[in-house]
Amino acid sequence: MNQRIVFVGGGNIATAMISGMLRQGFDAHLIEVLEPDTEARARLTSEWGVVCHSAEGPFLAQAGVVIWAIKPQSFRSATIDLRAQTQKALHLSVAAGVRSDSISSWLGNERIVRAMPNTPALIGKGISGLFARAAVDSNDRQLIERIVASTGEYLWLESESQLDAVTALSGSGPAYVFYFIEAMVTTGVSMGLTHAQAYKLAIATFVGAGELARNSNEPPDVLRQRVTSKGGTTHAAISSMEESGIKPLLSAAMFAAHRRAQEMGDEFGSI
Ligand SMILES: NC(=O)c1ccc[n+]([C@@H]2O[C@H](COP(=O)([O-])OP(=O)(O)OC[C@H]3O[C@@H](n4cnc5c(N)ncnc54)[C@H](OP(=O)(O)O)[C@@H]3O)[C@@H](O)[C@H]2O)c1
Repeated sequence: MNQRIVFVGGGNIATAMISGMLRQGFDAHLIEVLEPDTEARARLTSEWGVVCHSAEGPFLAQAGVVIWAIKPQSFRSATIDLRAQTQKALHLSVAAGVRSDSISSWLGNERIVRAMPNTPALIGKGISGLFARAAVDSNDRQLIERIVASTGEYLWLESESQLDAVTALSGSGPAYVFYFIEAMVTTGVSMGLTHAQAYKLAIATFVGAGELARNSNEPPDVLRQRVTSKGGTTHAAISSMEESGIKPLLSAAMFAAHRRAQEMGDEFGSI
């Protein structure tokens, strides 16, 4: 790939993408970052060898792809500021909530893809939902796939509204897993394990069960029933969870995230 790629914003998600792209063989000389923070620029240059800029300049007009990796609340003003210099580029936004209708109106450009990644992107094990506007052709899609694959897996969505569901499931999902790990570790300690023992057991259980589910042809309810013999320990735990209504509680939590993603689209997308 010989297209120049410019990141607007050089924070967590940009760093994860840049490190993954370099691991996948992208040329560091073709990646540039527009980032106002001096420390962030120094870190990106020393760790990854990419060129960083503190302010806009001619490099923007040479970009084949512009990746918007800034907070939703900064999005509108940044796009309007850089609109004139980025007309020829394909645009990829990783900002939660901000809809492509808003982005296209701010940029005056229709070649826009939105991605919703998650934090395991930092170690190349993320998963991203992708949505492309109609003007994005198959070459553009391939280019985006190469970039996003550097952070892990991806899947294309037919409708942009599905991105809010992706946000509620896999976007925020790592925090749900960490929350369960925290609770299992605390309980393990109260049952007599050391913190280190409980931590090791909890992490290995999530990783192992996740890998088992990924590699199995059986759905999770069958895998669960297989380890839940009547009258046994797992049966006691799952019955307690069912009585407490944990499934509807988790569903309500995910709908809260879903509502918030929709609200953010309204809040930060006013045209
Ligand atoms: N982290 C994740 O796992 C994750 C997952 C899914 C989606 N996202 C999305 O990714 C986006 C970025 O998240 P993040 O965690 O990477 O945030 P972050 O670490 O705060 O990085 C954003 C960076 O952009 C800089 N910035 C702000 N305004 C700018 C402008 N006009 N031009 C250039 N740079 C600007 C910020 O500088 P200052 O700090 O000086 O303002 C900051 O260094 C968000 O929209 C978020 O919704 C993140």
